[in-house]
Order: sequence, then structure tokens, then C-alpha cells
Amino acid sequence: MIKIEYINKKGKHKLINASKGISLLEVSKNNNINLEGACGGEMLCSTCHVYILSNHLGKLKKKTKEEKEILTLTENLKKNSRLACQIKITDKLNGLIFSIA
Ligand code: FES
Repeated sequence: MIKIEYINKKGKHKLINASKGISLLEVSKNNNINLEGACGGEMLCSTCHVYILSNHLGKLKKKTKEEKEILTLTENLKKNSRLACQIKITDKLNGLIFSIA
């Protein structure tokens, strides 16, 4: 299990044990985190927009052209913005901290 931490809008932390191989969107849904993900991971909606708060950005798979395009449609785009449906949980992500954008 990979340890992930979620911080909500009020600054409350939630520790999560995530299974390898599933997406951060699925991890969120499995742990009652209110991350919408309207298109179910098809990269059509951007409602799974998250901020990576720990220094794991460089450990994630690079953004595809499609992910970059979808992210440009979001209002609160930041350098640490990613689509949770495109983040696959791997060993390298142990300790990752994220919040909903
Ligand atoms: Fe729609 Fe990620 S769930 S883009």
C-alpha cells in the first residue's frame, strides 16, 4: 500500500492507503473524497483537477498533450495542477500530498 495524504479546503488532513495501479481519481472515490471526475477518467471534463502539494511532481508520468489541453480549460491552473484520473499510483508516489483545485 502507498501512503497518500489529502488536504481539504479547511486544511484538514486525511491519510489514505492507496493500492498500486489505480488512479488518484479512483483512490479519491474509494475514500469518500469529493472529487467529481464527471467523465470517469476519459480526459474530457477537468473536474478531477488537483494540486500536487508534495515534491512528487517530477515523479509523475509527464502530462500528455491532451492533459495539458484539458488543464488549460480550468480556472485555477497552477504549476502543480494535474488531472487525478491521469495519475497512476506507483511506489514512487509514497508520501504524495494533494488537494482539490
Ligand atoms: Fe474527467 Fe479526469 S475525470 S478529466
